[in-house]
Amino acid sequence: MIDTHSHLFEDEFKDDIDECIQRCKDNNVNKIILVGFSKETNLKAQEYAKKYDIFYPTAGVHPEECDLEYKDKFIELEEFIKNNKIYAIGECGLDYHWDKTYINEQKELLKLQCELAIKLDLPIIIHMRDATKDTYDILKEYKNLRGVMHCYSGSYEMAKEFIKLGFYISLGGPVTFKNAKEAKLIAKEIPLEKLLIETDCPFLAPEPFRGKRNESSYVKYVCEKIAEIKEIDKKTVDEITTKNAKDLFRI
Ligand code: NI
Repeated sequence: MIDTHSHLFEDEFKDDIDECIQRCKDNNVNKIILVGFSKETNLKAQEYAKKYDIFYPTAGVHPEECDLEYKDKFIELEEFIKNNKIYAIGECGLDYHWDKTYINEQKELLKLQCELAIKLDLPIIIHMRDATKDTYDILKEYKNLRGVMHCYSGSYEMAKEFIKLGFYISLGGPVTFKNAKEAKLIAKEIPLEKLLIETDCPFLAPEPFRGKRNESSYVKYVCEKIAEIKEIDKKTVDEITTKNAKDLFRI
């Protein structure tokens, strides 16, 4: 299994990171995409990847980092990538949930990161919250863009449209929640060949750990839930989503 979206560099893990990684290995989670989202966390992802083989680092500027200085932050990202090996651009995207102050800046920053992903032939990791239409309208303008809709929270109908643009749909802890009707519909109807699995840890822990700290080894609960919903065995879900992740991130 591969956790395709993890923030194991966060302070929540500073006292037991070695144990967290061991639990991954014990549960057959052998690769982790370690996702940066700011100047500080992009650097942390690099440091952790140098120390632990299990990590594949990314770099991006998250919409919540976006403000009037977004161009400078993008230039900084470009410079950073020149000197550091990364496996994807992101996470980046649009988030209108908490703060709509910088909607235009968020859109511009996303476009810059899309162009960078194409230029460097890297996949892009998209964070999208309460911004489905604007995200779709931007992504559809780019040919040759490939990537993942991380912890996808949009509709099943729109999931099919993102797939047509060349994106995978990634499901995380919410698919295990009782009330997550749309995520369960997506798990049932979207072909396994277009799905990825992730944790987004330390956030969004799956059942039976909902509300607690999430960690990368818990991606197995996402895998098991998808198997249960699709009524297939979990080994198949593991094998195919692992292949999808290897193809997308070229690992
Ligand atoms: Ni994230």
